[in-house]
Amino acid sequence: PVPVVAIDGPSASGKGTVAARVAEALGYHYLDSGSLYRLVALAAMRAGIALDDERALATLAAALPAHFEAERVFLEGEDVSDAIRTEEASVGASKVAVMPAVRAALLDRQRDYRRAPGLVAEGRDMGSVVFPDAGTKVFLTAGVEARARRRYKQLMEKGMAANMESLLKDLQDRDARDAARAVAPLQKLPDAALLDTTELGVEQAVGFVLGRVRS
Ligand code: CDP
Repeated sequence: PVPVVAIDGPSASGKGTVAARVAEALGYHYLDSGSLYRLVALAAMRAGIALDDERALATLAAALPAHFEAERVFLEGEDVSDAIRTEEASVGASKVAVMPAVRAALLDRQRDYRRAPGLVAEGRDMGSVVFPDAGTKVFLTAGVEARARRRYKQLMEKGMAANMESLLKDLQDRDARDAARAVAPLQKLPDAALLDTTELGVEQAVGFVLGRVRS
């Protein structure tokens, strides 16, 4: 089967950056599964669908008119790469992601990314639900303060407003929701390698994951 590198981990753990670099180094395809939940939330808000209407959200998710192109995300042909990163879309994504019907509707779309020569998939449930047979599983984490600092820096670089205290609070709330939810809770799988990046740079984290792939 086509090899899969599954990288799971909490919000702002750096899994996006690391996963993209690993994919590049290996020449593999790359799946940022979180962006799919963000797209569902954004599309719903635009279509006036309530974020608690599971049936309508699942229908929307199953036929999401979205595509990825050179690191940009498009919804109905419009570049929404920045729009899906707003606080509103983040909160919306975390709401729609607790719904089993929405998750089920996105399963096939995620599995379609598994194409030769290989795939690096990043998210909360890559190793547990979407690609349980992945040959490499890594759980990437970092202390909540380090994660808040990274998110802060990221927002500043994009010229977006940011406040350390509210970022920290938001991450703590999101961690609690991710851990407590009934479907696909964030968990460290017994067969995943744990990497704490609190004190590590991107290069070191990338090196660690590549080492796991090759071992
Ligand atoms: O890293 P961060 O949580 O900020 O963003 P993300 O990875 O883009 O994920 C956005 C939302 O989708 C989060 O609230 C996750 O809980 C959810 N998600 C999920 O449930 N399952 C995934 N495989 C990926 C994201």
